[in-house]
Amino acid sequence: MGLIIAIDGPAAAGKGTLARRLAAYFGLPYLDTGLLYRATGRLVLDAGGDPADHATAEAAARALRPGDLARGDLRGPQADAAASAVASIPGVRAALLDFQRRFADGPGAVLDGRDIGTIVFPQAQAKLFVTASPEARGHRRWLELQGKGQAADLAEVAGQIRVRDQQDRDRAAAPLVAAPDALLLDTTGLDADTAFAKALDLLRNKRGIAPARIVGFA
Ligand code: CDP
Repeated sequence: MGLIIAIDGPAAAGKGTLARRLAAYFGLPYLDTGLLYRATGRLVLDAGGDPADHATAEAAARALRPGDLARGDLRGPQADAAASAVASIPGVRAALLDFQRRFADGPGAVLDGRDIGTIVFPQAQAKLFVTASPEARGHRRWLELQGKGQAADLAEVAGQIRVRDQQDRDRAAAPLVAAPDALLLDTTGLDADTAFAKALDLLRNKRGIAPARIVGFA
């Protein structure tokens, strides 16, 4: 198995930005696993279905094609809520597991999501659990929406994130939780450069207790 860096954490904690930078640094492919759940939710909505319906959502997950991950309508409140709804369905998660595991064949990969270090790659050499205060995360997502020209209310955005996180934490199937061996990174008040530098420090400090692939860090 190549080097696998598993990054988990709640919504808008800065996982994606960090994962992309770590992937570039280590020359590894990057998979935003949230896109799988977002695209599944979208397929259900396209067909006029209910994302909480198990059979419909599982069929959508099985019908997913790589091109679906490139759709332009996978972000925003409706897609967020549909993703979280389908993500609580065990059959959906099972249908998406192989794709995630195959993605890391070869040199390895950086993946971010909710269950990468616990379920998808419990044997990953490097696991980061990325968090930030609810206020910081709400503000970050609000700024993202503003940047895309989508008018949004800060309190509403923060509320939607709170609901989704609770749903992700409380579900029976692959709940959002830090793996016991995950390194914790709180990005509250950190810009992307500082968060990246801290993540590299954490991974370097793992030297000695980490498997060989991590020991080679510059
Ligand atoms: O970008 P953000 O952090 O808001 O969300 P995301 O990573 O794109 O994930 C969207 C939703 O998909 C989450 O709220 C989870 O319900 C679900 N998800 C999951 O259950 N497992 C993953 N590995 C990734 C996402």
